[in-house]
Formats: sequence, structure tokens, C-alpha cells
Amino acid sequence: MAKISVIGSSSMDLVVTSSKRPGAGETVLGESFTTVPGGKGANQAVAAARLGADVTMIGRVGDDHLGQQILRNFEENHVHINYVKPVTHMESGTAHIVLAEGDNSIVVVKAANNEVTPAYVEEALDVIRSSDIVLIQQEIPAETIVYVSEICAKYQVPLLLNPAPAREVEESVIANAAYITPNEHEAAIMFKDMSLQEALRKYPNKLFVTEGSNGVRFFDGEQEVVVPTYKVEAVDTTGAGDTFNAAFAVALAEGKSLADSVKFANRAASLSVTKFGAQGGMPTRREVEEQL
Ligand code: RIB
Repeated sequence: MAKISVIGSSSMDLVVTSSKRPGAGETVLGESFTTVPGGKGANQAVAAARLGADVTMIGRVGDDHLGQQILRNFEENHVHINYVKPVTHMESGTAHIVLAEGDNSIVVVKAANNEVTPAYVEEALDVIRSSDIVLIQQEIPAETIVYVSEICAKYQVPLLLNPAPAREVEESVIANAAYITPNEHEAAIMFKDMSLQEALRKYPNKLFVTEGSNGVRFFDGEQEVVVPTYKVEAVDTTGAGDTFNAAFAVALAEGKSLADSVKFANRAASLSVTKFGAQGGMPTRREVEEQL
């Protein structure tokens, strides 16, 4: 069983559906409002656990009722939460999501996720060191990502950096990561001084650019490869990237080849969009394998 540590955000998603996305200064009437567990870190932890991995989440929640719901959701999905400690006098992270016109818009309020600091993560050093792979995203402080990249390099634990949401990333983090999975927009911000083709060639078998319905692009040392995705009827694309990253990590930790790992991850991500909510459609191992 693949042993995975996820270091990242845990939030509650506050989701409204509307036929129209409001413009600046505009008010529109929506159709529904739902709260569902989310946060890129938590989503990746839950997705990896559903795919059969032994997952430890390293994160924080607020000392509030949303925090309790987030913790309960981890437990229901068999994610270890010894290192998801409530922060006193601080709210849980929230993501304010509008689903309209076939896509989402998201505003994230990090709140307790700002307390996933290097000192806090250090408490989980033993778990991190004994992981087959570590997953991290960018809804936590940048200095924590630098710190985690250093300890992963020091103890030779592969680090998968999902650089979302987009921001510039330190050279040392790029060097220390084993795998980096931006979408095209995130890649353009990370590698702003070079073209996508140059970035792919600079980081063979390390940089995997997700291109939505087009598939996933990487350079295998000899040529650019695009692993196509699967066509499905999408209900909600929220969490598709998280499912991709989790499934990619699970497959890599199990020793699958890079191309097979991307294929497995594409299949899992395509299933995830067929239901509402970031975690609603995340598939089990069996569901992915039946479809492959
Ligand atoms: O990647 C999807 C996630 O991004 C949502 O669940 C939301 O919490 C935002 O952080």
C-alpha cells in the first residue's frame, strides 16, 4: 500500500450555482447553495485514500464547527488526522465558489491554513520521512513549501508539487521537487522567462502540464508526449486537478511508469467531474480500474 503524506489546505467549499456569472458590480439570482468539504490539500488526501493509499494529512482547521465537519470528513475517508490540529481563535479556511456557465470561479480565504508553518510541519517529520511520496500545493505559506522541498531532498522522499493556485515558485523548490504539475496558466507564471516548450525540455520527466480536455504534456527526454484525457459529461470540474495529482502520486508510489501513471490519473480525474462537489465524484480504486 502506497504511503502518502499530503501537506496543504483543508477548507469548506461554499458553492452557489447560477445560470449567470456576475460581473463587477452586478447582482444575479442563483439557484442553489451547498457546503461541501474542499481545499486542495484535503481534496488530494481524500482522493488518494479512495484510490487505496495509506494517507496522512498534515494541515490545520479552525476551532469551529466547519473544522469539526472537515475532520469528520477525513475520518469517513480513512485519512489519518493526527497532524490536522485545530488552531484556536481562528476560522477554518473557506472557498467561495460560483458554478456558472459550465465552469467555476473561486475565492479562497486561507484562514487557519496560514498556520501550516514550517515549525508545525516539522512535528510530522517522521511521517514525512517514511512516506513513499509527498504531495504539496500552494494554499499554504510559501516558506512551508520551501521547507518541505528541503526536507524531501534531504531525506530523498519524492515531492510532487502541484503549483496551484498560481504564483511564482522559488528555483530551489523547482530543483528539489521530483514532479511538478501546473496547468498552462500556472506554468506561464512559473516559467515566465521561457516558452512552454523550453520549460518542458529543461525539466524532462519532471514537468507535467495539464491542458484540460487536451490531456497532459511532458518531455520524456527525447520528445514531447501528450497523454490524452477521457471524454465524459462534466457536471462539476472542481477538484479534477486534485484528483489528477492524487492519482498520479498513488500510481508513481506503486511503481507504475510515468506514462501509465498519467493515464491512471487522467482516468481518475475524468471520473471526478461527473458528480457535484470537489470530492463528490472522486472515484474509488475499483471504479478507475473498471474504466481503464
Ligand atoms: O482545487 C479545488 C479546490 O480549490 C476547491 O475544493 C476549493 O477549496 C479550492 O481551494
